[in-house]
Amino acid sequence: MAETTNVDYSTKIPNNVGLMDDQRVLKALEQWHPGYIDWWMTMGPEGFQTSNVYLRTAISIDPKGWAKFDYVKMPEYRWGILLAPRLDDRRVNFGIHKGEQAWQEVPGEYRAMLRRLIVVQGDTEPASVEQQRHLGKTAPSLYDMRNLFQVNVEEGRHLWAMVYLLQKYFGKDGREEAEGLLQRRSGDQDKPRMLGAFNEQTPDWLSFFMFTFFTDRDGKMQLESLAQSGFDPLSRTCRFMLTEEAHHMFVGETGVGRAIERTCQAMKEAGIEDANDVAAVRKLGVIDLPTMQKKANLHFSLSLDLFGSEVSTNAANYYTSGVKGRFQETRIEDDHQLTKATYPVSKLIDGGIKMVDEPALTAINMRLRDDYVNDCAKGVQRWNKVIEKAGIDFRLKLPHVAFHRGIGEFADIQASPAGELLREADWLKQKHQWLPSKADGDFIAGLMAPCWERGKFASWIAPPRIGIDNKPGDFEYVKVDRA
Ligand SMILES: [Fe+2]
Ligand SMILES: [Fe+2]
Repeated sequence: MAETTNVDYSTKIPNNVGLMDDQRVLKALEQWHPGYIDWWMTMGPEGFQTSNVYLRTAISIDPKGWAKFDYVKMPEYRWGILLAPRLDDRRVNFGIHKGEQAWQEVPGEYRAMLRRLIVVQGDTEPASVEQQRHLGKTAPSLYDMRNLFQVNVEEGRHLWAMVYLLQKYFGKDGREEAEGLLQRRSGDQDKPRMLGAFNEQTPDWLSFFMFTFFTDRDGKMQLESLAQSGFDPLSRTCRFMLTEEAHHMFVGETGVGRAIERTCQAMKEAGIEDANDVAAVRKLGVIDLPTMQKKANLHFSLSLDLFGSEVSTNAANYYTSGVKGRFQETRIEDDHQLTKATYPVSKLIDGGIKMVDEPALTAINMRLRDDYVNDCAKGVQRWNKVIEKAGIDFRLKLPHVAFHRGIGEFADIQASPAGELLREADWLKQKHQWLPSKADGDFIAGLMAPCWERGKFASWIAPPRIGIDNKPGDFEYVKVDRA
């Protein structure tokens, strides 16, 4: 079966890339499969591998037909290799190869670069599954539990997507990298995942929602810029992954939004007007808004680190070579080569933070990060609408990009969320006003009682407006197997 929009389910690995006619790659993937299942069983959602979950599976890459819902046990989910359709006459759209036919094979001189990009992207996918593996047990509803597992199986599929590229286009090195992706573990001392934010813990559901809002959105920006790649199979892979990624960010945004909604509602019922009266709000069994701000500060700053250094020759090389573009590259009106252009970068100069024009080529990371910050800000605005509507005088705010950074221009300094530079002693004194403390974490952990009754929700979160797949409120999204 050649490449089509329908997915071939006759092979063990559903795909629309003609695996039937590509025995070498089919065999390589079939050999990788048991290791993957082993990883899923040991590192995937703990305690729910025999439960039936109402999941969507891609059965076609057609925009309308790709999601089919049904009960599935997660280890039996059909993880497939799905690429967005090949576009007629697609070209390299930026860099020194601009205007050439897009590459269907890996150009020899860019092999190492492409392999690196694919492995780094691939490594984040299983990492988040590992980070989230304990959350099922404290799910605030069956609806939320289903969403968690949907995100998890799709991150698993994203790993497959990257492994396919490695196996198909990178020979022996690709095979080794595919093995490595199953060997590293989130948070492990000896063999950690490759990027910082993916070695942090996701201890509770507020963290999960913040993670899917902020960190999956970094994923979106990375996939968007890889979707611009001159290497066409990578572009097509990422384009299809983006359709799934949108759901992950929906889970995050609505999850936090529903927690906010519930808090505001409880405050109003109790007649509490001061959102900063943390002790009074916590007594209501909901998460106070200042703590949500702290969580947002944490996840935002960790996610900013994923964009790398503001000024980067690696990023410039990726761009010039045509392997990784900018967000919405083809919609930007410029020469798409950037040999003379500049871009403003926030830098540390003479003890202050200033904007400095840098060559646009080396500022590619900065630009992508700016696009990311704008995207985040829109979501925060939607959260604030919920608070505003409840008549509560409190607004969430993204912290300054210099706040709590581990990578880039601001890695060695401390700044407040407002962007004032601080001496170390002042930072240490105030840090827990801005970042979750152990006590904050303990309080949230204390709220994380499972709520698995159909149609019921935990005390701290409001029900969603509409169910998944338009199901009614009391739909049994997960048939929890308690055996
Ligand atoms: Fe992903
Ligand atoms: Fe994701």
